[in-house]
Amino acid sequence: MTDDIVVIEGDGIGQEVVPAAIEVLEAVDADFRFTSARAGDAVLDETGEALPQETYDAVAAADATLFGAVGETAADVILPLREAVDSFVNVRPAKAYPGVDALRPETDVVFLRENTEGVYAGHENRLSDDLSTLTRVVTTSASERLARFACDYIEERGMDGFHVAHKANVMRETDGRFLGAVERVADERGLETEPVLIDAFATHLPLDPGQFEVVVCPNLAGDILSDLAAGLVGGLGLLPSANIGSDNGLFEAVHGSAPDIAGQGVANPSATILSAAMLLEHLGYEAAGADVRTAVEEVLAEGPRTPDLGGDATTEDVTAAVLERL
Ligand code: NAI
Ligand code: MG
Repeated sequence: MTDDIVVIEGDGIGQEVVPAAIEVLEAVDADFRFTSARAGDAVLDETGEALPQETYDAVAAADATLFGAVGETAADVILPLREAVDSFVNVRPAKAYPGVDALRPETDVVFLRENTEGVYAGHENRLSDDLSTLTRVVTTSASERLARFACDYIEERGMDGFHVAHKANVMRETDGRFLGAVERVADERGLETEPVLIDAFATHLPLDPGQFEVVVCPNLAGDILSDLAAGLVGGLGLLPSANIGSDNGLFEAVHGSAPDIAGQGVANPSATILSAAMLLEHLGYEAAGADVRTAVEEVLAEGPRTPDLGGDATTEDVTAAVLERL
């Protein structure tokens, strides 16, 4: 069956790395219909809206979206689009690759971050000139949904457990509910969970990243800890991510529109191509996804490399090398 894929290039290097990833998706054995949609700073300037309603509707109706990057309008575009795909989990792998300088070359960790609630649920209040408050939202249903995804995720990869980052010792009610729900679901599935306090985790991860493979996190903790892991593997141009909903998904590089190098044709397309590999896997094209990943890893190891990785190749050179290996 043909899958409908919405393609949003956005601003800056989004317009360079997304076409590269589409070339890769067109080269593999998958049945996709691509539709372009617009969002970002340029659309805001032209129309007064960073995220046109027709883009939101197209993303909501699609099977998946490949998203490049936008500039200053990022929050106005990405947050609603995550909602459009009803994304309950943000999957963020941080992996160090041979051939790429990394602080911790043994890092290979995937964060499964709760994507709808916690302190990002948007309940902030100004109560007086002196006092503002924030309500942290944790539901059993969202925590269980995340846990079921985590269980499927590790079972598909032949693993038997995952870590759960939490501060239930302090936030007994909210993180207590989160941790309890995740542990209960894993236990029912016969899978192991290892709880780890978020602050202690921030020490253990850089000291010994090899001990962590899959980490389930509340929203804010997942945001911060996955960025910490990104720092360990080096190279923002390498980090993909997936926002998964029950029958939709939005796939995007972690990096932004990189205005400092936009228009020069030297952006590293790897993060967006790896995001496209996650899109393939999500839509059931596991073999094609694995092939794309392998091709990118081989090119990272042997070159050509873009300037961010110390090389002098262009986006097109790297894309051509990936296509050749496919
Ligand atoms: P950025 O990720 O765009 O750039 C940070 C640094 O990394 C820059 O030096 C850039 O040249 C480099 N870089 C990033 N991606 C690269 C790639 N693929 N290849 C080679 N080098 C790469 O983050 P920054 O500078 O903080 O933000 C720039 C704009 O992007 C801002 O307007 C920000 O709001 C937006 N942004 C958008 C995001 C999104 O659309 N998801 C996420 C983060 C930032
Ligand atoms: Mg962040």
